[in-house]
Amino acid sequence: MKDPIASLAEYIRFASVSTDPAYAEGMRGARDYATQLLQSLGFAVETVATPLHPILLAERKGDPSWPHIVLYGHYDVQPSDPDALWTSPAFEPTVRDGRIYGRGAADNKGPTIVHMAALARVLEAHPDLPLNLTYVIEGEEEMGSPSMGWFFERYGERLAQADCLLVSDTGSPGGDQIVVTTGLRGLVGLEVIVHGSRSDLHSGVHGGAVMNPIRALTALCASLHDTCGQVNVPGFYDGVGPIADWERAQLAQYPTDEASYRELLGVSELVSAKGLTPLEGVRFGPTLEFNGIGGGYQGTGSKTVIPARAFTKITCRLVGQQDPQRILEALKSTLQERCPEGVRLEFLDGGLAHPYEVMPPHCAGLEDNSVLGSTFKAAHIGITECFGKPPLYLREGGSIPVIADFKKASGLDAVMVGLFTPKDNLHAPDESFDLDWMEKSIKTFVRVFQEIAGLPAAASG
Ligand code: BES
Ligand code: MN
Repeated sequence: MKDPIASLAEYIRFASVSTDPAYAEGMRGARDYATQLLQSLGFAVETVATPLHPILLAERKGDPSWPHIVLYGHYDVQPSDPDALWTSPAFEPTVRDGRIYGRGAADNKGPTIVHMAALARVLEAHPDLPLNLTYVIEGEEEMGSPSMGWFFERYGERLAQADCLLVSDTGSPGGDQIVVTTGLRGLVGLEVIVHGSRSDLHSGVHGGAVMNPIRALTALCASLHDTCGQVNVPGFYDGVGPIADWERAQLAQYPTDEASYRELLGVSELVSAKGLTPLEGVRFGPTLEFNGIGGGYQGTGSKTVIPARAFTKITCRLVGQQDPQRILEALKSTLQERCPEGVRLEFLDGGLAHPYEVMPPHCAGLEDNSVLGSTFKAAHIGITECFGKPPLYLREGGSIPVIADFKKASGLDAVMVGLFTPKDNLHAPDESFDLDWMEKSIKTFVRVFQEIAGLPAAASG
């Protein structure tokens, strides 16, 4: 494997936008590139065809008694839109001020290259590294992993032979502070379309006689939170668990306070609900967010019209034991009940994902000699040595739906080392990945792999 920065640049150049069929060539390119990297590391790579984007399943097999780690990542990226707001084109990787810019630089191509570069260094020093390794690199994460259920049905049992997952697809505060992610929020997606008249109407000729779909929609949207910011859907909070004492203690050490968080986001005030502070709410609380809204005239100037329809796209983030299917049903029936006369609702179901939580043994005061336990320990040691500071153990606001599915299908828990930082602009224009951070992360994972394999630190590459 060549220089990690050059490898990352090459990987970014493949425009692997999974959600848009126009990017089929970029998807193929990224997949082939990842395949080539894995083969250069000595992996046997299988390209598993799915109903949509193929999944890379790669293995490095040795003695069955060795620890068996599954590395999960995704080769797809979010759309680059709005392209006009990028300083340099999204799929032309560019280095400026010590950062590499491009869609996917952080989510998830940078961290994928970190793992591979670290493995390359370890394998160079120890070609017979006593680790069984399996890679699962999928191409639909950014669209909710629709093919992964299909994949687990066929490969779930085979993956169950592994010991645990190792994942870097979550965030850290940056600087010298890494977070080991102990939970991911679940997800419920729903698009709501409000249908009114057969076609758009003259708002002067007919206004006063019909329910305007935008009025109906905005009233419905406004009804979904109360004045305290709580989600106003009966049963929504069922299953939300408490914040553990150790979690509060970890959050208290988090380097970002409310003022700097406000500053980072460019907002004048933060909000909160259900007795949680904003910094608690973003990790430990559930939400209902509007991701998009539309209807009526969007062009320049004015147009006096009552539109025939209006829509909104909603996603909820879930925690604890909240059940995505039940919340989807509750949301739909609540909207139906509150729908004004004269319009009709249509629902398009989005993805569903269960929340995921894992308890690092030492956070519970336990000594755990399983491979999961020693992988947590290896992460702690590697991070502490290379960043000069132990990691914080925190749940995360974002979602990686397949992590809970790995647990359900194969019984695997995940050790998640957060490699995104707040400056990375995930899913936004000018996404980037810090190059010093990248090198430190590679050194960290060299130590992590050595530790899991039980090699002495002195052999460090
Ligand atoms: N890597 C992210 C999730 C993430 C981001 C976790 C930041 C922690 C911190 C992942 O690729 C992602 O964006 N997931 C989507 C899931 C959705 C498309 C089903 C998300 O969370 O919105
Ligand atoms: Mn990601």
